[in-house]
This record gives sequence, C-alpha cells and structure tokens, in this order.
Amino acid sequence: AKALTILGLESSCDDTAAAIVQVEPGQPARILSSVVHGQDMLHSNYGGVVPEIAARAHAEKLDICVKQSLSEAEKDLSQLDVIAVTAGPGLIGGVMSGVMCAKGIAAGAGLPLVGVNHLAGHALTPRLTDAVDYPYLMLLVSGGHCQLLVVRSCTDFTRLGGTIDDAPGEAFDKTARLLGLPQPGGPAVEQEAAQGDPGIFNFPRPLLDRAGCDMSFSGLKTALLRARDQVVAEKGGLSRADRSHLCTGFQAAVSDVLTEKTRRALAIYADEGAQHPTLAVAGGVAANATIRAGLESLCAQTGTSFVAPPLSLCTDNAAMIAYAGAELFAAGHRDDMGLAARSRWPL
Ligand code: KG4
Ligand code: ZN
Repeated sequence: AKALTILGLESSCDDTAAAIVQVEPGQPARILSSVVHGQDMLHSNYGGVVPEIAARAHAEKLDICVKQSLSEAEKDLSQLDVIAVTAGPGLIGGVMSGVMCAKGIAAGAGLPLVGVNHLAGHALTPRLTDAVDYPYLMLLVSGGHCQLLVVRSCTDFTRLGGTIDDAPGEAFDKTARLLGLPQPGGPAVEQEAAQGDPGIFNFPRPLLDRAGCDMSFSGLKTALLRARDQVVAEKGGLSRADRSHLCTGFQAAVSDVLTEKTRRALAIYADEGAQHPTLAVAGGVAANATIRAGLESLCAQTGTSFVAPPLSLCTDNAAMIAYAGAELFAAGHRDDMGLAARSRWPL
C-alpha cells in the first residue's frame, strides 16, 4: 500500500472545514492542513444553529476552505488520491452542500469519493493523533452526541450506552442560555465554573442508580433552572458569584455522570479480556478540563491508557474526516455520484 493524500470536507453542523491528511502505512498520519471556518457569529442572535443560515454559509465557504487547505498543504488537486466528505449525520442542508462540493471536485479531478460518517470521524481521531491501535473504548461527547463505543475497526463500532435525551454539549449550551452566557455554552460555562464554589449547589446525577451505560442530561437543566429561579426569588437577581456557583455545580454533575458511566463501560470492556485497555475521548465537550481530569483519574485508578486529542481536533474539523476516509478507502470503500446526504446515520 502506498501513501495516500486525502482531501476531507466537513459541513454537517456549524463549522465549514477542509483538510489535507497524508496517510502512509507504518507511519504516523500527517495533517498537512486543517482549515475551519466557524459560524458562531452568524447564529449568535438566534440562541442556536439556524439550519438554513448554516447551509447557505457552508455553500459559500466550502470553496474557500478547499482552496486554503490546498495552498497551506502546498498541494494541487492532481496530487490528491481521494476526496472524503461527511455524508451525515447532521443538518441536511449543510451535509448536502459538502457532498455536492465533494462530488464536483471528484468528477472534475477524476478522483475517488468516500462518504464518511461524522461520528466515525470523531471516533477514529485518536488513531490520527496518537496512532492508537484497535480496539479501544471511545467516549464521544459533543453538542449533538453522547456515546460510549468500543471501536474495533473503521466500520465496526459497538455501542455500550449513550444519552437518552440531551447530549452533554447541548446541556452546556442550554445552561449558558439560562444564565445569560454566550454561545457556544461549553467554554463560557467552564470559564465561569472555575470561579465558583463546588459546595453550594449539589445537582442530581441522573441515572447513576440505574445499571448500564445510559445517561440523561435534560433533568439537570431543569434542576439548574429551578435553582436559578430560587436564587432570583430570594435575592431579587443573579450575581456574578451566584452564576459561577451554578456553573460549578452543573459542571461537576455532568463530569460525575460521564466519569461514572465510563467506569461501567470500562468494566464491561475489561470483561471482554482487554489486556491494556485504552480510553479515548472526542467531541467538543472533551475540551472541558474538569471532565478530562475526572476521566484521567478514572484511567489512573483502573490501569487504562487515556488518550485525548488536541482541542482543535476534538471539535468539528475536516482532518478527522480525511483520516477516516483514508481508512475506509484502504479497506476498499468507494462511493459514486449516487452518494446521498443523510440527516440520520447511526454508527
Ligand atoms: O464536537 P463539536 O464541535 O460539535 C458537535 O456537536 O458535533 O461540539 C460542540 C459542543 C458544544 O455544545 C459546546 O458547547 C461543547 O461542545 N463544548 C464544551 C466545551 N467546549 C465546547 N463543553 C464543555 N466544556 C468545554 N470547554
Ligand atoms: Zn462533531
């Protein structure tokens, strides 16, 4: 097998991204460029991502991202081997923009096309960044997703559990909204939480009393709303300190639930006879230092290696799509002009 140079495209949510990755057997994968154009500014007045605005912005930005990724990598289309594109799951307009762009490039440059599941992109990121061997346990925590997976190959994922309602990133975003903090909520809540006292608000840890690896985060948001309203009723308003304490309590609850459910997943995984278990994290919420610290100490206690990709590769990016595309291509996967964009696409 020879070295592959792959262009990856990502446009399934609110980031338009293109990247060039080089994969050579026996060598660590190389990210030659990774361009991400976020849309936070476009959606900031709406309290969430507006699908129509997102799709239009992706359509406008994809070409620019592709050109930039090629020029930063000092490559032209003739030097590429494969085009990989997120074909779902996600906001359908954005996914369609990416798939159409990829088809255009593939047809124009005569290159093979590979459709990639966005979740597989996240789930394979530790192989891109740290050359982690299969199998490993993956905690994928983002704005739209929350799953504990055993990753055995680029197409073989066993789901041990996940959220039954909101994703943790969604809970961070809603919490930020309830407290008047900016979007995306994760970084804002984390920043506030660093100033708070963990002893003031003790929020519930949903589903910890129930066996298995499923999680729930929507009740936590309701508890936070109630606590906020109580403070406002008692004091006539919410001080900066109150807000920080609420964030600290909320973040601690999310972190505890994720750590505890991951502990159970590790136990299930260990029962399969995993000799040197590895836990890898991905998704935007994995950027959270408190959550990382909880998982790290769990791994230290259980003799598990902990792998956390750099933050820029935990959040949405196209390098992970290019890399997953490379593995799929090497395994014989090809798509044609019939490749469809899918809003839903379970792993
Ligand atoms: O993976 P991602 O970029 O997009 C998808 O959802 O696919 O994740 C974005 C989510 C947002 O909900 C954001 O609030 C959350 O990740 N997030 C964080 C942090 N940084 C981003 N949540 C908690 N703490 C953070 N530091
Ligand atoms: Zn994502």
